[in-house]
Amino acid sequence: MIREILEYPDARLREVAQPVSDVTAEIQALVDDMAETMYAAPGCGLAATQLGIAQRIFVVDCAAEDEPSQFLVFINPEIIEKDGVQTWEEGCLSFPGVTEEIKRAERVTARALDRSGKPFEIEAEGLLAVAIQHESDHLNGVLMIDKLSALKKRMMGRKLAKAKQEDARE
Ligand code: NI
Repeated sequence: MIREILEYPDARLREVAQPVSDVTAEIQALVDDMAETMYAAPGCGLAATQLGIAQRIFVVDCAAEDEPSQFLVFINPEIIEKDGVQTWEEGCLSFPGVTEEIKRAERVTARALDRSGKPFEIEAEGLLAVAIQHESDHLNGVLMIDKLSALKKRMMGRKLAKAKQEDARE
């Protein structure tokens, strides 16, 4: 089932998500809805908080359009190592129509549970590392606008307003 994605400045995007205590059938159904919602958007990452569900879960698929899917589920994720610096032009399904350059770690090692509740560890770089950091932020109520300078924040506000107007005109 495709669910509604909350858009900035919805207050629910600021909630700090709670750990999942048990990967139940209900959690798996939520994960499946998250995947369907992400692909339909389309986007390369989606956190449960973006659906108004304050649970520590996100999904990502950073494969390019001509590559096979690289779908990953992260339940109770933890970034245990970070290094390097990279800047990526990021987008977010909660900020439709805008992208911003954001500086993050170049490589991360993360630990989480998969859809079946099994623990795994992953080393990521490039876009996948960006996505893991971006989605982990969502679970802490942190949004990409928080990473911008005051000037860029104002510019982003204007871009969002403009994107909304264009959307209304279509
Ligand atoms: Ni996002």
